[in-house]
Amino acid sequence: MHLKQDKPDNRNVLDTTAQGVIGAPLTRPEGLLKVTGTATYAAEYEVEGCLEGVLVSVPIMSGEVLSIDEDSVLAMPGVVAVISDERLTGRAAQGTAGEAPFQPAQTVCYWGQPVALVVAETFEQARDAAKHLVIETRAQDVPVDPEKVDTKVEETTRTGDLAHAMAEAAHSVDVEFTTEGHASAAMEPHAAIAQWQDDSLTVHASLQMLKFNRAELADSLGLKEEQVRLVSPYVGGGFGSKLGISQEAVAASLAAMHLGRPVRVVMSRQQVFQTIMRRSETHQRVRLAADNEGRLTGFGHEARVSNLPGESFAEPVLQSSQFLYAGENRLLQLEIARIHRMTAGSVRAPGEAVGVQTVEQAMDMLAEKAGIDPVELRLRNIPEKHPANGKPFSSRKLAEALREGAKAFGWEPRPRKPRHTREGEWWIGTGVASAARVHAVVEAKARVTLRPDGTAVVETDMTDIGTGTYAILGQVAGEMLGLMPDDIDVRLGDTDFPAGSGSGGSWGAASCGSAVFLACEGLRKKLAERLKVADDGLTLKDGFVRWDGGEKALTELLDGKPLDATGHFEPGDSTEDMAISSYGAFFAEVAVNHWTGETRVRRMTGAFGIGRVLNARTARSQCLGGMTWCIGNALTETLLFDPNDGHLVNCDLAEYHVPVNRDVPDLDVLLLEERDGSASPIQAKGVGELGLCGGAGAIANAIYDACGARVFAYPMAPNRVLAAMPQN
Ligand code: MOS
Repeated sequence: MHLKQDKPDNRNVLDTTAQGVIGAPLTRPEGLLKVTGTATYAAEYEVEGCLEGVLVSVPIMSGEVLSIDEDSVLAMPGVVAVISDERLTGRAAQGTAGEAPFQPAQTVCYWGQPVALVVAETFEQARDAAKHLVIETRAQDVPVDPEKVDTKVEETTRTGDLAHAMAEAAHSVDVEFTTEGHASAAMEPHAAIAQWQDDSLTVHASLQMLKFNRAELADSLGLKEEQVRLVSPYVGGGFGSKLGISQEAVAASLAAMHLGRPVRVVMSRQQVFQTIMRRSETHQRVRLAADNEGRLTGFGHEARVSNLPGESFAEPVLQSSQFLYAGENRLLQLEIARIHRMTAGSVRAPGEAVGVQTVEQAMDMLAEKAGIDPVELRLRNIPEKHPANGKPFSSRKLAEALREGAKAFGWEPRPRKPRHTREGEWWIGTGVASAARVHAVVEAKARVTLRPDGTAVVETDMTDIGTGTYAILGQVAGEMLGLMPDDIDVRLGDTDFPAGSGSGGSWGAASCGSAVFLACEGLRKKLAERLKVADDGLTLKDGFVRWDGGEKALTELLDGKPLDATGHFEPGDSTEDMAISSYGAFFAEVAVNHWTGETRVRRMTGAFGIGRVLNARTARSQCLGGMTWCIGNALTETLLFDPNDGHLVNCDLAEYHVPVNRDVPDLDVLLLEERDGSASPIQAKGVGELGLCGGAGAIANAIYDACGARVFAYPMAPNRVLAAMPQN
């Protein structure tokens, strides 16, 4: 079945089916493999005769490679070759392929850029030789601090007169914030094993978007797409870092093609930090103008971000500011500075992950000025239609999330006044923030086959990056075909299967779930035709097909032969006609140490409206992951660049501080019942990234409520909290 979705689908088919597995909190079918270490990740395949490659980087921010002296290492034990190619040195091998132009060979664009691959019989030999490879470079002086570089305006939305609204406002807030760069910090490093045989390339890799990655890799190697097969059934986290191909996959492929032997390349943790996309640091200004009742009359959000020269991506900081709150006088402006750091790209929830929390802090300040409870202030400012383009909103559970979340958390509605509770050395406070993340869907195909024994197979090149794709696709198929998910074999992550949407931008579940749904609608139609009944007259449950007047076992109906159908979902006007987003609310309680400024998050509640929940357990897990990142975003995560030579200083997990168990309290997640027929044929919206969009603002507001420190720089490390703490 092919569907280009031009109209909302409000039939809610999955609510009319009989199996009862959709939405159930089932465990992941591949969970046991993962926790027992038997799921095979990219680097772990045993390939006979496999050579080992180690990437060699150069320590300059900008400049050129004058020479690579291959003879300096070729005589070392086990060394087979040094591969240096313009595709390695050029930025085409980085991230958002198709956007980055090829750089002339030997241009160095950022500190730590790989320019060669040393290939040897063993990893140790390759690593040793990589350290001894003599590379001559010429460095060029470039600015190190993005704040000291001129910017160019990327995007402006202007309505009415914000300055006037600010001047006339009964209450106003005008504040600036900074956020530091973030790393995806996926547990599994970037890795690839490339095999070249009979003019065909097979790469076991760790990637999020196989359909696109295949095209990117073929393009950068000068191959046809049909010559490239990517295999990526398990991905140890992506968070955006594996959206596009990067150097390890290109290098391994080039080496395998040159040498005629399989080659494995695994980035070291440091190389992942130094070469893979970063989230841009941001400098933001938020302006809010409100009347006496706290109703917004003006809304301003400006941000400056950075990226490498020539890169088209700009952290979309203002994405949700376009529509989250009302205010008829609006100014939103995004500016970009060009800086020689590794490519800035999509890191989990690009834009909202750093753009919502600042607005939410400004809202908290406005609530205090206006003497209004912060939850109430937000409720008063939910716009009726999209403030910039006038589109109607589809489903939007923002008000419910604020109310239900407040109830679950035990929020005391009151105007804010800090320093009300102290326990020994610790100030205790609470804070709230809204959550918003735009919804997207992407073309996706999947094939579903009913086997003669009454079990089924789902096949698509869709990936599972830890999100639960295996579980939810089995549930969609099980619900539609009247089977238990245990009887469905979900096969993912291989470009030999029909092309899915890939995992990115929180669109995977809704897009690929819809492809599986459409394939199953096709199968139901075929079964109905066999029985000569209308397909909506069929009930499929527990391996039986029932209709008005009869019942048959599925196996009997299949009569010893398999039956398959392909689902093809394409986004159409339904997502264009409406403003579609996922929404939620965060509530946080913190303790701030009076003497050290240390903040401990004591509890956190998140309430989210994500359309149909496909699996209550994996959806909740996504929210938990997002809220955990909120804690890192608020308190610890920051990329630190050396102000002298521009190198990334904290390029490992010891020094780049993601929250660990001791930092994360019990997190409470509420999933609000919702259907959105405009969002996708299965009425689901994006969930993955929503939990990260705004929550750091709730923590910031809780810090203020606790100790009176209003911190405008993220992360709110102890020194910053202490410096902002009132001295009494
Ligand atoms: Mo996401 S940052 O689109 O993997």
